[in-house]
Amino acid sequence: MLNDSLRYHDNQLYCDALPVADIAAHTGTPVYLYSLPRALANLRRIRAAFDWADARIHYSAKANASLTLLRALIQNGAGIDAVSQGEMQRALHAGASPDDIVFAGVGKTRNELDWALRHKVGWINVENVGELELLNQLAGSASTRIALRLNPQVKASTHQHIATGHGGAKFGLTAEVIRDILARQASFPALDINGLHLHIGSQLGDLQATQAAVRLALELMAPYPALQTLNIGGGLPVAYGPQDEVLEVNNFAQALRPLLEGRPLLLEPGRAIVADAGILVTSVLYCKQQAGHRFIITDASMSELIRPALYQAQHAIVPLQPDSAAPLEPAQVVGPVCESADQLGHDVPLPPLQAGDRLAILDAGAYGMVMASNYNQRPRPPEVVVMADGHSWQVTRERETQEDLLRGEHMF
Ligand code: LLP
Repeated sequence: MLNDSLRYHDNQLYCDALPVADIAAHTGTPVYLYSLPRALANLRRIRAAFDWADARIHYSAKANASLTLLRALIQNGAGIDAVSQGEMQRALHAGASPDDIVFAGVGKTRNELDWALRHKVGWINVENVGELELLNQLAGSASTRIALRLNPQVKASTHQHIATGHGGAKFGLTAEVIRDILARQASFPALDINGLHLHIGSQLGDLQATQAAVRLALELMAPYPALQTLNIGGGLPVAYGPQDEVLEVNNFAQALRPLLEGRPLLLEPGRAIVADAGILVTSVLYCKQQAGHRFIITDASMSELIRPALYQAQHAIVPLQPDSAAPLEPAQVVGPVCESADQLGHDVPLPPLQAGDRLAILDAGAYGMVMASNYNQRPRPPEVVVMADGHSWQVTRERETQEDLLRGEHMF
């Protein structure tokens, strides 16, 4: 949705102090555009909501791993939640101190664990007993803190693909297994088991499941006074349009306060920091009326933004330079990829458009570029960042070229 950084002024869409159309004219389309002022404001808002706890915010780099964005968040005090060596390397490259990195993931390889130990990352979140045994072998001394990820077997109210805390999910350890591990901590002498971790899903629709999961975690920790830190994961929801009524971060935090006040907490928000700080700017290639439908064919597709195809996500789509007098008519906004699923928006209210007009797909800052692919041999788009001053912009990642698409491949 539109916000303080992304708004209309004189019938022009602005990102902070800059007309989006001017940036798109320089870079071409499709292009991802991120507002650092907005991402940093989101970070501050989440931090303020949890000011009653000793809370550390570890931005979840999987949502958007742009180096410039990571660097800005790190410089403003965020730690990083990483799920691969690639993400840890990016975090370090962007200036994170190893101690401020949490390494999570359901299937970490031996090499990745070894790498994390050698680089002395702050925390490793462990998701199965085999991993704990392997870590115990690899770790020379108990210098890396371990959090056990609890699968609380609760059902989060969210899309099935992004729910992670129910019994059937591959994630985490059940309460029984955690009880057993805690009771025999002496069998892992090289490990400093120091906290519990949970993340029951993304874009959480209600609080009950989170509260139940937190209660269970506290119950498991209670007999072990050395175990104080609780990592409550990410999942703070964002509104993708007026159709979404989402929990405000403040309400989310206040509902947890009676359970967690004063406790050392880690949070791993991704989406709530970057979703509404990013847009995907695209150009209209063609318009056609067919079988009663109005199709707007754009140069962006499911290769650049897969969320609508994969999760039936609804992103608002708006013109960069709307004519306020023009009537809005429903349009099917589709990309050039050879799949019917390649539809970026259904029945989007849009004014009359013609080839060359530009549109912005909103709230595309989270799980946009990081999930982009080269499907249909399409080069991935560039990423542009409006800097923290709100007045200047930089291309932080260049558009891939046709040569990039052939790089590293051998023909025999
Ligand atoms: N921590 C853990 C352990 C996670 O698995 C995730 C997200 C996060 C934190 C960050 O969650 P957030 O605050 O962003 O909700 N591609 C999907 C979302 C997948 C989320 C995966 N895990 C989407 O586009 O909606």
